[in-house]
Formats: sequence, structure tokens, C-alpha cells
Amino acid sequence: MDLATEAVTKTKPVQPRRAVLAMPEYHPPLDARSALRLDFNENTLSPSPTVLARINAITAEGLTKYPEREPVERIVATHFGLNADQVLLTNGVDEAIHLMCIAFLEDGDEALIATPTFFMYDVGIRLMTPGLVKVQSDETMAFPFERFLAAINEKTKLIIVASPNNPTGTVVSREQLLAIAAAAPHAVMMVDEAYYHFDGETTIHDLDSIPNLVIGRTFSKAYGLANLRIGMLVGNPELLKYVRKVCSPYNVNGVALECLPAAIADEAYLAWYAEQVRVGRNRVMATLEELGVPFFKSHANFVLMQIGPLHRELVTAMRAHGVLLRDRSSDPGCDGFVRITIGVEEHVTKGLEALKASLKEIGWSKA
Ligand SMILES: Cc1ncc(COP(=O)(O)O)c(C=O)c1O
Repeated sequence: MDLATEAVTKTKPVQPRRAVLAMPEYHPPLDARSALRLDFNENTLSPSPTVLARINAITAEGLTKYPEREPVERIVATHFGLNADQVLLTNGVDEAIHLMCIAFLEDGDEALIATPTFFMYDVGIRLMTPGLVKVQSDETMAFPFERFLAAINEKTKLIIVASPNNPTGTVVSREQLLAIAAAAPHAVMMVDEAYYHFDGETTIHDLDSIPNLVIGRTFSKAYGLANLRIGMLVGNPELLKYVRKVCSPYNVNGVALECLPAAIADEAYLAWYAEQVRVGRNRVMATLEELGVPFFKSHANFVLMQIGPLHRELVTAMRAHGVLLRDRSSDPGCDGFVRITIGVEEHVTKGLEALKASLKEIGWSKA
């Protein structure tokens, strides 16, 4: 053995930061998804047809260029009635969450979330600080407003609230969100509006008056662009300046940037898709009521069902019928809960037929 090899074998393996060792991993079950996808809250059909036309117009030479985010940020800002410095396009809201955590949190800071909620908050926060404070909803899954407010202290640096929330589908009122932001002027408040289009309430019009408010929006859900990975942060330019600083200049790929203006311009398609979901959601909730399956009233493009001990059997039976569901049993307070995504009419019909048959096959009955 030469000296160099000996030195390498004697030293301990390289270790990452302690926070990386401690942070949880998120591995969504993404294999074998060729069935009807009612598991990830995606658009189940397609984006606006104008998006495909844009993709087809992309040239080989166009692919050789680094993507330019800023011209598209200007288009997006105009569309949403904002200034360009109030908009940062990101590689999905997933990246937006990471960037917010990297920009605003350090060891010793606290970050506040209500659980159950989107797991990426956990991942991003614990990458930066062990000070993750979770306020658990009670069995109604309503947002625990009073206890959440009481958890704010001088160490709180970042607050993230999803409304509508995933996986519950419940909402936090605009008044409550603004009260939280006002109670923590020393912290950044991120409202994740990933499912905004299926509900309609927003704090986007409060950005000018609430300096510590930042909103996340995704183009993965209603717009049907999950595969392109594009989302945005909108808010106070002074705060976004710090987030821009930690963001790669090429974080959003050129195909997504090419398609986004077409996707946002086709408002008729967006309105049509959101309405398909609203109608489908009412059908799903009415059917669950008829079947006696407990569920949480949803404001998003999914419904969380309380199946009980047969949750795994239901997911397996549905898969055999060609429909994917998401078992949420490992979420805090969600043992026995299964989530079904709402898509366009024909997909809702297929999902409901499979659900009725599967519940019968597994011998499910109301507890
Ligand atoms: C609440 C919430 N925020 C953000 C995301 C991720 O969005 P994106 O696809 O833009 O990364 C999801 C995805 O399921 C979500 O449920």
C-alpha cells in the first residue's frame, strides 16, 4: 500500500454538516406511476394547449443557451399586477422553500409550522437549524390559530403556512394569516398558496402593506406544469433581494421559461381546469358522504379520507383497479388517512368507480 492510499484508508469517511446528518429525507413514492395519477395532486390532464405549441417552437440552438429568468419575471409581474422586483421565479415551490430557509435561517433560530403539512418545510428548515417548532392540529384538522400565535417568540425567524394546506385541504383565513404576520414583525412569514386556484382566497393584495409577507405560488398544480419545475416567490423586494442572492442565476430551465408566459396568458384554460376540480371535488365529497367514509372538507384539488386500519389494503386495491392514491398515514395525526387527487370529470368518475369497488373488496365498513 502506498502512503497516499494508507492515509486515505486511515482517515474517517467524510461527514456532511451535522444538520445534514440530522435532517429527514423525503422520497415520494414515484415508481410505477403508469396508472391514473390520483396520488400527487397534479393536474391529471394537461397544461394549456398553447404550452405544447411553445415547446414545439423551441429550436436546437435555443437549447444551447443559458436560460434568462428576468425577462419572464417581468412578464409574470405584469400579469399579476406586481413590480418585477417583487417576483422571483424558482425551480418549483420546493426550491422556493429551500431558498427561504437558506436565506433567513441559521443555527439557533426557530421556524414555525403547523402540522400535518407539506413535508418539504421540515427538510428545508432542519437543513439550517434544529429549531423547528411544530404546532399540531387537533382531530378536526383545523388550523390551530391560538396555539400557533402563542408559539411565536423572539427566536422565531421564519413562519411557513400552507393555505389551502396539504394533506388536509383546510384553509387559514386571510385575517388569521395577517394576524400571524403582524404578531411576528421580526420574522418572515411565507404563505404557500400552491393550491390557491382551487379556493380563491389570497394574501397577494396585502403584499404592499405587510413588509414581512412572502407568498409562494406553483405552476405545477392548476397550470399542469409539474414536470417543468416552475414556481414563484412574490413579496417585499428587500426580502427577495436576499433570496435572489442565494439563488442560482439559472435555477429555472429555459423550457419552463419559454412555456410560462403562454400558460399564464391562457386564463380561460386555467379557469376551466379549476372549475373541473371544484365540481369534481363536490362529487367526491358527496360520494364519500353517501358511502359513510369520513373526510375533511377540502379547498384544494384533493380530499383527505379517514379510512382507518384498512388504509394499506385500500391503496393496494385501488392500484389493482388502475388508480393511484396516496397513503398519508405516516403524517402526524393522520394514521389511517388516505388522500385522493381531484382531476377532470372523466378521471373523477374513474376514481369514484374504483373507490366504490375497492372499499367493497377490502370489506371496509364504517368504524
Ligand atoms: C403545499 C405545497 N407546496 C409546494 C408544493 C411543491 O410545489 P412545486 O411542484 O412547485 O415544487 C406542494 C406539492 O405537492 C405542496 O403540496
